[in-house]
Amino acid sequence: MAPKPRILAFAGSARADSYNKRLVKVAADGARAVGAEATLIDLRDYRLPLFDEDLEAAEGLPDKARELKEIMLRHDGLLIAAPEYNSSITPLLKNTIDWISRPSDGEKALTAYEGKVAAIMSASPGRLGGLRGLFHLRSILSNIGVLVIPDQVAVSEAHKAFGSDGNIVDEKTQSAVEELGKDVAKLLHWNRCPEPFPSQLSSADCRPFERASQS
Ligand SMILES: Cc1cc2nc3c(=O)[nH]c(=O)nc-3n(C[C@H](O)[C@H](O)[C@H](O)COP(=O)(O)O)c2cc1C
Repeated sequence: MAPKPRILAFAGSARADSYNKRLVKVAADGARAVGAEATLIDLRDYRLPLFDEDLEAAEGLPDKARELKEIMLRHDGLLIAAPEYNSSITPLLKNTIDWISRPSDGEKALTAYEGKVAAIMSASPGRLGGLRGLFHLRSILSNIGVLVIPDQVAVSEAHKAFGSDGNIVDEKTQSAVEELGKDVAKLLHWNRCPEPFPSQLSSADCRPFERASQS
């Protein structure tokens, strides 16, 4: 049997009562519902100094950055819920992305992101739900080699959005967020090609476009 896709889920907030932590858990539950393994972590447990190249040159990667990179390497997919600070992502999330992007012990830069498939989402008490930060996050992740799926969800009025069970009160939004987790899991599953890729594509590999009948 094929191994289960492994998905790492976290929020770009350290806040104990974070809406984004609740949000990413819903997406992780969605991934588990289709059989993936989802690991939920809290960036509060991976506190890192503000990135500084002099510090890196003098001391190398902090232990927590190495630990987090190891965890990233053990997973195939990412679910990230990103709070919006002043129209962009939080310093916590950017700082974490930056530290993890650095090579350690002769490896290539960006190894932790290579081949990853991600879904992104946000929650905010505001009316846009943190949507503006998602544009930045999509751009950052795409530029470091992560395939970010087109669908994303921004949950507005987050202070009213979650029930006491941690789920989203609005059913449509709840299933849209679960779907993000499911989509990443399915994409990772389908991505595991049972056949080796042909060394030379032939016309037999092409599916013809449907043509409108010509009159
Ligand atoms: C420095 C700062 C800037 C913020 N800027 C925005 C913003 O641009 N847009 C927005 O919707 N909310 C903004 N907020 C409010 C956050 O969305 C809110 O604090 C939210 O609860 C953070 O996510 P969390 O609950 O996951 O920690 C800002 C909050 C802080 C502390």
